[in-house]
Amino acid sequence: MKAFEIKKGIYWVGAIDWDLREFHGYQTQRGSTYNAYLIIDDKITLVDTVKHYLFDEMLERIKSIIDPAKIDYVVSNHSEMDHSGALPDIMNICKNATVICSPNGKDNLEKHFDVNSWKFKIVNTSDEINIGKHTLFFVLMQMVHWPDSMATFIKDEKLLLPNDAFGQHIASYERFADELGLDIVFEEAKKYFANIILPYSRQASKAVSEIDKLDIDMIAPSHGLIWKGNVNQIIKAYKSWDANETKEKAIILFDTMWGSTRKMALAIYKAFEEKNIHVEFRNIKTTHISDIMTHLIDSKYICIGSPTLNNTCLPTIASVLNYIKGLNPKNRLGLVFGSYGWGGQAINEIETAFKELSYTIIDTIKVQYVPSDEYLNKMKDDLKNKLP
Ligand code: FEO
Repeated sequence: MKAFEIKKGIYWVGAIDWDLREFHGYQTQRGSTYNAYLIIDDKITLVDTVKHYLFDEMLERIKSIIDPAKIDYVVSNHSEMDHSGALPDIMNICKNATVICSPNGKDNLEKHFDVNSWKFKIVNTSDEINIGKHTLFFVLMQMVHWPDSMATFIKDEKLLLPNDAFGQHIASYERFADELGLDIVFEEAKKYFANIILPYSRQASKAVSEIDKLDIDMIAPSHGLIWKGNVNQIIKAYKSWDANETKEKAIILFDTMWGSTRKMALAIYKAFEEKNIHVEFRNIKTTHISDIMTHLIDSKYICIGSPTLNNTCLPTIASVLNYIKGLNPKNRLGLVFGSYGWGGQAINEIETAFKELSYTIIDTIKVQYVPSDEYLNKMKDDLKNKLP
């Protein structure tokens, strides 16, 4: 396993998790990477580590450049275990190294590992550490993704190492985004934001404003591909997602028992289609919720439908509502629909969820048992009249 030089004397020494298909509820069809970076300078510095079970891979890549015992500094930008899992193992090898982290980083590392023998240097925003030819500059990025998160910026190289921010879950041979294909990398970056960063969009907006003041020509996140030559594009995308900006776009999200709620979903689809509004049609049984979020994040209209089962909505839809409430996309218009037999309580539950999210409900449509073609046609026309 080789190290990969991303800038002169600065190497990617991370690990590729080809088999990863699930990451705390997020479906990772393309696998992932945990990116660690080795800076060869007067003070040899390792920025971040990898998941514990990929320690040997990271070590082999480091050994292709230097003796790991010579590492002087280990920067821990974020203490979540996909980046810190291999920290105890590397600290066992470079026993004289100092861990550099944020104040919350030290607190969190103490609650994860036995750190009694570790030396720490705590940094805050705008602190600098000279390591020889290079100077490390730090920017705290609280809640992007945890309270401890921070970015390390190598000023003279214009290289930002922001950990989770700007990352994507992709396992690949390629290291740079443009080598793999920008469409794929941007889509995965959007999915990553929608499923990981979105609940903290206010904090992310603040952090991105700080980052935008820096003179950056490369962003090397801790997951996926490195942004080189596309830095402005990904920062612009983050600003839009941070701001909860939406498009004239709808997502219809539903489950169905006997096909009636699906028929209603199709009538809703036709209404948007006839108004020339981009519309996504997603059955929760066939699209994973983490992929639904990639579409939902920039959809102005969120339409959720469920039949009523056991006096409530289907468990799939209850799970979706729970997930969306947690991620908390803001400033949307909601549409509630569903077929029912006698109670119709699913409708109330979706409406309640939308109210908790502070969405304006543009329509609530419920049908007993099976909607006729005539009903569906009228339903479509009525909805069209409510759309711009
Ligand atoms: Fe990739 Fe929040 O850890």
